Amino acid sequence: MSESDSAHTEVVTHKSFGGASRTRVLVVDDDNWVRELLITVLVEAGYEVESATNAQDAIAKLRVSFFDLVLSDIRMPGMDGISLSSYLSKIHMDIPVVLITGYGQASMARNAIREGASDYITKPFQVETIPIVVERNLERHRLERLRVAEQNSRVMYRAVQALAAAIDAKESNTAEHSRRVANLSRIIAEDINLLPSERRILDLAAHVHDVGKIGTPDSVLNKAGKLNEEEWEMMRQHAIQGAEIVGQVRELSYVADVVRHHHEWMDGSGYPDGLRGESIPLLSRIIAVADAYDTMTTDRIYRPRRSPAEALKELQNNVGNQFDHAVVTAFTEQHARRITR
Ligand SMILES: [Fe+2]
Repeated sequence: MSESDSAHTEVVTHKSFGGASRTRVLVVDDDNWVRELLITVLVEAGYEVESATNAQDAIAKLRVSFFDLVLSDIRMPGMDGISLSSYLSKIHMDIPVVLITGYGQASMARNAIREGASDYITKPFQVETIPIVVERNLERHRLERLRVAEQNSRVMYRAVQALAAAIDAKESNTAEHSRRVANLSRIIAEDINLLPSERRILDLAAHVHDVGKIGTPDSVLNKAGKLNEEEWEMMRQHAIQGAEIVGQVRELSYVADVVRHHHEWMDGSGYPDGLRGESIPLLSRIIAVADAYDTMTTDRIYRPRRSPAEALKELQNNVGNQFDHAVVTAFTEQHARRITR
């Protein structure tokens, strides 16, 4: 930055009052008159506005404060508006930059859009158009963020399903166990008051509840006879290991907690933490019932399958000590209505 730029590093702050979480706009312009005009118009339109007199000031401001949008002059001493928008598009991907161009600078502005600017306004402008263009670009950005979030969510869901298929492939005779447990959990949850976000966590957790078995030796997983104490200990580890694997993905931290506790018993005799009753996450209690039902009604190396009616009876016989009463009741009612396996 040159000395003349340094002389203009004073950042003028203009905050409107009365709103704690208003949309924040950073106005960048070296022309005092234009800058003050933009500030006035935007504050009147309800935005919280701060300003900078050059691009370097703006970057300094953006390093310490969050802004929803940057409105910048294209022609400024030192770093110009195009370089500013190009720089910001690389480090602040989620902040739209609207440039103000002089007469005859349209091709320059189009170039700026290729470099990462969101939009441009041509001088001389009518003051009423400023808030309209600002709002239009904020809205475009909101929609884009939503689209990216939905895409990430779909990618994560497919990744979780792929992980579930990998677990099922490892244990013989249990193909598609994870998918069936997810289906049964969803059916049980229909009669239980859950938020949409909880239903989503339940679905993901049910798919990956046994992901920790990736670390369990095949000789233990597929043993035909009874497990000895050492082998049981290895088997119990899958709840902890599953939670650790899932917990590595920040967005799945709630799912990790549900996975950890899917073998807890209502009387506290389950694993890994011996949680009891209501202290076991509700979603883990739902998966425990779905898991037990599917395991009982599927052929295993060490025993043939039980009939749905027998499996249901077994669940009901173990209400209170192993299974949650409300969850087994919900499952029994759903079973009577629709499950015909
Ligand atoms: Fe399990």
